[in-house]
Amino acid sequence: MDVPFINLSAMTGDVRTKVSDAWLALLDSNRFIGGEAVDRFESQWAAYCGTTQAVGVANGTDAIHLTLRAMGIGQGAEVVVPANSFVATAEAVVLAGATPRFADVDPATLLLTADDLEAAATSRTRAVIVVHLYGQMADMDSLSRAAERLGIAIIEDAAQAHGAAWRGRRAGSAGRAGCFSFYPGKNLGAFGDAGAVVTSDADLAARLRALRDHGRTSGSHYQHEYLGTNSRLDAVQAVVLSAKLERLDEWNDARRAIAARYRAAIAETAIEFVEEAPGARGVYHLAVARVPQRDRVRHWLRKQGIETGIHYPTPIHRLPPYEHLSARPLPVAEQAAEQVLSLPMFPHMTPAQISRVCRAIASLDELLMVPEAIGV
Ligand SMILES: Cc1ncc(COP(=O)(O)O)c(C=O)c1O
Repeated sequence: MDVPFINLSAMTGDVRTKVSDAWLALLDSNRFIGGEAVDRFESQWAAYCGTTQAVGVANGTDAIHLTLRAMGIGQGAEVVVPANSFVATAEAVVLAGATPRFADVDPATLLLTADDLEAAATSRTRAVIVVHLYGQMADMDSLSRAAERLGIAIIEDAAQAHGAAWRGRRAGSAGRAGCFSFYPGKNLGAFGDAGAVVTSDADLAARLRALRDHGRTSGSHYQHEYLGTNSRLDAVQAVVLSAKLERLDEWNDARRAIAARYRAAIAETAIEFVEEAPGARGVYHLAVARVPQRDRVRHWLRKQGIETGIHYPTPIHRLPPYEHLSARPLPVAEQAAEQVLSLPMFPHMTPAQISRVCRAIASLDELLMVPEAIGV
C-alpha cells in the first residue's frame, strides 16, 4: 500500500537509540520486574496526566478490570458502557464480575453523553466507563454532573486518548481513575503489551498496586491481603514508554495537523468527519469519517493504494457474548457501525501521503453519484 493505515517504523526509529541504551542498562541491572525504570515511568505518566498517582499494569484491559475491583465493583453491580467502543471496555466489566449496561452515543462525536448515561443507568448502576474513543474527549462537565446526580463513579477508558484534554484537563484526570493501554499502535505505545491506571486517590492506587501483584501487602513478600493477579508492567516496557513520552506531544500535534487536512478536504463533500466537541482537544488516535456505501468506498480507496480500517464493525451489545445483556435498541451506535471508516493516521505520514488521501476523499462524492451497478 502506498498509504498504509499505520506505520510504526518511524516512531520506533525516533526512540531507537534511547531505548537500546536503556535496555543495555537494564540488562546490567538485572532488575526486570518493578524497580527504578517502572517507578520513573509511573511518576512521569502521573505528572503528564495531571494526577498524583500512576500504577503500571500489564495491559489496558487489566487497567479497567483491576480499577473496578479496586473500587469494590463486582457481582450484582452494573456499569454503564458505551456500545460504541472496543470490546475490552465491556470485557473488563465482566471480568470484574459486574454487568455491563450498554448506552447509546452522540451522533456527532459518537461518544457517550450525559443523556445516554441517564437513559442507561438503573438503581444497580455503580459506575460509568466514559470512553474517549478515537482520541476524542467526551463532555466531562455534563457527564460529571450526571454521574453525581446518579451517585456513581466515573472511570475513564483513555486507551485511545493519551494526551487528549477536556478544557485543559488531560484524559484520565477528570474521573476517579483513568485507564490506559500502551498497545504498540496506540499514541503512546510500548514494544509489547502494557497499561496503566492514573488517579489522585492514593488509597485506590495502593489497592491497585496490591491487586496487580498477587494481592500483596505493601512491603511484604508473603502477606497477601487481597485476591490479586499478576498484572505488572515490565521494566523493559517502562523504559520504552519513558523514551516515547518525550515525543508524545510532538506526535499528537502531527496527528492533529493531518486530521485538520482531512477535515478540510471532507468539508467539500457530503461525507461527515466525526466531530471534536467544543472544549475538547482530540489526539486523533483514529481519523474517523462516516461514509455511505462503505464497502465500495473502501474498495475504491484500496485500488488507489490507500489502506483504511473500521472501528468498529459491530457495536459491543451486538457481539455474541454480550447480546443477551441488551434488550434496548441503540440506534446511533448501530448505524455508526455500518458507516465508520478510519483513514490512514500516523504521525510520520509524508506530505505526499496526506495529499493523496485528501485528493481521494475530496473526489468521493463523484464516486458516490455513480450508481453502484455501473460500479467503480
Ligand atoms: C478503547 C479501548 N479500551 C480498552 C482497550 C484494551 O487495551 P489492551 O489491548 O491493552 O488490553 C483498548 C485497546 O485496544 C481500547 O482501544
